Amino acid sequence: MKRLISILAILSVLVGSAAPQMTQEEKEAMKFADKLIKKMTLREKFGQLEQFITRRGVVTGPGGVKCDIESAVRKGEVGSFLSIRDRNEALRLQKMAVEESRLGIPLIFGYDIIHGCKIIFPENLAMSCSWNLDAIERSARIAAEESAATAIHWTFSPMCDISFDPRWSRVSEGAGEDPYLGAKIAAAMVRGYQGDDLSAQNTIAACIKHFAAYGAAQAGKDYNTVDMSELMFRNLYLPPYRAAVDAGAVTVMSSFNDFKGVPASGNKWLLYDLLREELGFRGFVVSDWNAVHEMIIHGVAADGKDAAELALKAHLNMDMLGGDYIAYGEQLVKEGRISEKLVDELVREVLAVKYRLGLFEDPYRYGKQDLSKVYYLPENMEFAREVAAESMVLLKNEGVLPLQKGVKIALIGPFADAPKDQLGAWRGLGDEKRSITFRTALEERFGKENVLYTKACECGKYADKILEGGIEEAVKIAEQSDIVLLSMGLSGWHSGESRSRAEITIPAPQQALLDALKNTGKKIVVLLSTGRPLDIRNEVEKADAVLLTWHSGTMAGPAVADLVSGDKNPSGHLTMSFPCSVGQVPVHYNSKNTGRPPKSQFKAQGYSSSYVDIQNAPLFPFGHGLSYTEFEYSDLKVLTPTVELGGVVKVSVKVTNKGKVAGDDVAQLYVHDLVAETTRPVRELKGFERLSLKAGESKVVEFEIPTSELAYCHSDLSWKADKGDFHVWVGADSYASLKGKFTIK
Ligand code: NOJ
Repeated sequence: MKRLISILAILSVLVGSAAPQMTQEEKEAMKFADKLIKKMTLREKFGQLEQFITRRGVVTGPGGVKCDIESAVRKGEVGSFLSIRDRNEALRLQKMAVEESRLGIPLIFGYDIIHGCKIIFPENLAMSCSWNLDAIERSARIAAEESAATAIHWTFSPMCDISFDPRWSRVSEGAGEDPYLGAKIAAAMVRGYQGDDLSAQNTIAACIKHFAAYGAAQAGKDYNTVDMSELMFRNLYLPPYRAAVDAGAVTVMSSFNDFKGVPASGNKWLLYDLLREELGFRGFVVSDWNAVHEMIIHGVAADGKDAAELALKAHLNMDMLGGDYIAYGEQLVKEGRISEKLVDELVREVLAVKYRLGLFEDPYRYGKQDLSKVYYLPENMEFAREVAAESMVLLKNEGVLPLQKGVKIALIGPFADAPKDQLGAWRGLGDEKRSITFRTALEERFGKENVLYTKACECGKYADKILEGGIEEAVKIAEQSDIVLLSMGLSGWHSGESRSRAEITIPAPQQALLDALKNTGKKIVVLLSTGRPLDIRNEVEKADAVLLTWHSGTMAGPAVADLVSGDKNPSGHLTMSFPCSVGQVPVHYNSKNTGRPPKSQFKAQGYSSSYVDIQNAPLFPFGHGLSYTEFEYSDLKVLTPTVELGGVVKVSVKVTNKGKVAGDDVAQLYVHDLVAETTRPVRELKGFERLSLKAGESKVVEFEIPTSELAYCHSDLSWKADKGDFHVWVGADSYASLKGKFTIK
């Protein structure tokens, strides 16, 4: 017994935190599932492990094999459907499964509700720049309410993939480059979707994705190989996934990439040893789209049967769309390649989630609400406007913003009146007709007569060009106006899956437009639409102000109007560095010192880790964000200069609004472990607080950092904090200069 206890203790040091005990609710769900499994045929079991999509009534299996969807449902050979948009269709299929299949097991409907369902919130990277966890949680809850009412039980969110590579278009779906902030956001989103009662009518199942390390695809190319040390993985990539597991997310999606040489969907180390044994995950794992079958193309499976065997043995519960489980599962068991016991375990976890969603009690519980009482509620639209404004980041301002009263505006560019683009990628069930564009909102705020508009340029999937006469018209209206608001960047189509780019500059036609407008001598405010950091050296140099407006969703327009008018004060801070040039990528604040750092990050220096042609520092660092007021950070006090291991480090700082208007800022605390067992990042975020200050007001912010938060993965893979000296900084970005020191004894 003693031995067992000490093994468990060692395990919990290695793991970081011991797996939580099973709750009563989980136990009950497992018990229910076990009873049901006893009645199921092998084929019905594999049915529960298969997810399909409807395409004009046919299901396509591996190699394009078609099957009749309705008879598959009736035979209990489908456990789940993906992307059903219409709740009547969902309820029709549910009825078929429940009333016509032998055991009446309900279906679970999944959909990509990534940053909103009907009301679309800013893309996730944008929302992370609000550093507002309550707002992020609420956005997920609103998305859950709207989804649940549409009979969607399950979202494939949050995406917990840390990434340092803006060539990868999917950075728009994540929370940026920092594991600490990423972990807090992942947990907030899980809380938002699932609440504390999964069976409630306004909560849905969350899905942690893409497990694992999908954001580290080599060269920023989507679906590409991932290869890194386990140390790096555990320190930088694992924390958000872990936080989402700890927050209780009931499903996980395996990623497309390989990891340690094995595709994630067949990677037992990832899906079983790490996820279940170490992190204590007890829900079910779904593959990404056809990812089981793609293991043949990866070159680790000979055929669909082989792929299914690999995935089943890796403990992957549900095959998304590939069809290999239902096609070959039974044979694999009959041939003794897979044990029925394993199949039962996999089925149990799927059924338990369905049970916890309340689907066995009432399979139709999610499609009953009066949609007019759930969709596009005015208070939720107002909230979307606030969160969009908080997500936008003022990158540069040379005294031109906020705009003067009565000013005449030339509003120009491809995204100024683009209801679809402003929704970004993964638009859920969002209706672009409900989008309020920059143009509409600015006309309302400043008067129609004061806003002259022309699109001038096209940018999107099918075109990247100046419209006929576009530049001439743009120059003409600029000359008739006091100021130019130039909406430029990348379209909604450029965000999300499969839009990797080797060049991260703004397309040439838009740059030509900027040059022409610059020649008019008018002041220019760039409204930057994008789902990823870009190399905007050129635009920053030429513009008088740059407001990063992202793809901010349904209420992007009113949020822009609120900020440029000064009705609201910008408060967003970057969560991903903006590189100077694509050649710097990956560039992130939490990098290592190396043995030869340059003296300055802004100047090249021989025989140092730097470039000879460009600065080391990014154009805008992690944490950067300006305001219409000025915040001063002073009086940093380390209240606990010496702390025991296991204790809490306390640091306080005074923040003063020195300007003439009220504003919000994000106070950020960074640490550095001076002498560690392995090389550590030069800075790591370990605390933050969003605060509102009236003009002239000061507040003392107190941070409490448990020493457990300073733990990291050592070379023997143990997770612990070091004793010794640490530096600590607090300020408004990752360059914060106010510094202190503490020691862990
Ligand atoms: C593929 C994407 O990688 C994943 O994020 C998404 O959830 C699934 N398709 C389902 O649409």
